[in-house]
Amino acid sequence: MTSKTPRALDSEKHSGINIDFTNEAAEAIKEVSTDDDQLSRPITVIFIGAGSRGTTYAEFARVMPSWMRIVAVAEPDPQKRDLFRQAYDIDIDNAYEDWKPIAEQPKMADAVFICTLDHQHFQPAVAFAGLRYHIFLEKPMSVSISECAKITAAAEAAGTVFAIGHVLRYSPFHRRIKEILDTKELGEIINIQHVEPVGWYHFAHSYVRGNWHKEADSTFSLMGKCCHDIDLLQWWTGLQYAKVSSFGSLTWFNKHNKPKEAGSSTQCLECPLQDTCQFSAKTIYMKHKWHTSVLSPSRNINDIEEAVKTGPYGRCVYEMDNDVCDNQVVNIQFERGERTTPTATLTMIATSDALCQRKVRIYCSNGDIEADEQEPYIKVTNFSTRSTRSINPYKGNTITTGHGGSDMGIVRCFLLAIDAYERGDYREATSQIPPAREALNAHLFVFAAEQARKTGTVVNVDQFIKEQLRKATEN
Ligand SMILES: NC(=O)c1ccc[n+]([C@@H]2O[C@H](COP(=O)([O-])OP(=O)(O)OC[C@H]3O[C@@H](n4cnc5c(N)ncnc54)[C@H](O)[C@@H]3O)[C@@H](O)[C@H]2O)c1
Repeated sequence: MTSKTPRALDSEKHSGINIDFTNEAAEAIKEVSTDDDQLSRPITVIFIGAGSRGTTYAEFARVMPSWMRIVAVAEPDPQKRDLFRQAYDIDIDNAYEDWKPIAEQPKMADAVFICTLDHQHFQPAVAFAGLRYHIFLEKPMSVSISECAKITAAAEAAGTVFAIGHVLRYSPFHRRIKEILDTKELGEIINIQHVEPVGWYHFAHSYVRGNWHKEADSTFSLMGKCCHDIDLLQWWTGLQYAKVSSFGSLTWFNKHNKPKEAGSSTQCLECPLQDTCQFSAKTIYMKHKWHTSVLSPSRNINDIEEAVKTGPYGRCVYEMDNDVCDNQVVNIQFERGERTTPTATLTMIATSDALCQRKVRIYCSNGDIEADEQEPYIKVTNFSTRSTRSINPYKGNTITTGHGGSDMGIVRCFLLAIDAYERGDYREATSQIPPAREALNAHLFVFAAEQARKTGTVVNVDQFIKEQLRKATEN
């Protein structure tokens, strides 16, 4: 079975619309579905933003048209908009340049997927909640505490299904870990070591050259990259965060580390190291064609070369104006559970071979779990029986993209939650998609961790959250 998510520069299937990607989505849907899966009717949806994430989630509609039907799209880029409209046979009158005209009309679908960039979440989220759409909002919820609190309040006032793109909860890998912990076979959780290895070229793409390279333009990297890891730790333990300290910096991707041989060149195609530097845009985008839809939706090689010559993705990684951390550790103490007060460490690291494939160790009172998404395996040791078993959490479908199946997994749960909600089964809806406040808690904790890093202090999470929410409501 091949359930490996991509680990080398050999994949150009991370985003955009293409047939292979649809097949991968189909495999992922098979992996996350159960035999008794069913929906009363297709859920109609609107996509706000047809970029990388929007096109990824939309694949669900192509594979499962009896579950999800896309009736409108808002996307300012004409090429992306047109590709998306044609791919999903959307009426030309329902293809918009901006989300606002959709929000000015009476409700035209059951749900909306908001897949714009981080700083563009707040306004559409509040507007569509006001119209009582079911909402899928990409993570992070928003870029400030006050906006996150207002989005949560709007979602709660609407009372409809509100999903945050915390996709990790929906992958077979992380779900299996949760199931093992919940059986209590291993007793009580005492400590978790969780690593998010971002991947060297992925980090260079997104957090050095790309959309998330400057905190002021998007958000800090712990929020951008790890708010769903924080959500996972909260979900696995079932406990609130109590205290946090954190260290980290931008330690590699700066002028200081530029190889001398690169001289004064600031663009890869002008650099003497263009064929040898591991971060060379020529190698990443023109040779291996990784994530090229971000450079040009057409993926045409001439357009890619032009983007490398003139755009940010062709810039030297040591000569950017990036300011977000490339490594960070977060030390956590949870509140007391039934019998233990667990601790955890989260490491976010840019320079890894693994590409967002988490490494997890969970130490419990009667056993431990060692799990690696890259392989993938979950090794479970039970102290009482003195036995160790290795579990492959996948059924055997070929999953090479989409966060180990979780991108399709979260869409499936979102649609099931809407179906249950519309039938009046609110309990079932909440079991598929947790309430907005849980996502808010994870975000507030990430803000607390960043506060701890910036001030070099141990932050009392409850106190921090209360203070911040009070300030947010005063504004
Ligand atoms: N859940 C995850 O694991 C995960 C992974 C990566 C990114 N993200 C998040 O997903 C979001 C989108 O990221 P992306 O990589 O798809 O970015 P992207 O730039 O590829 O897509 C965003 C799209 O929004 C469009 N847009 C801009 N203004 C708009 C408007 N007014 N109306 C409609 N569309 C508009 C842009 O033209 C663009 O096509 C970000 O918040 C990002 O942090 C989540």
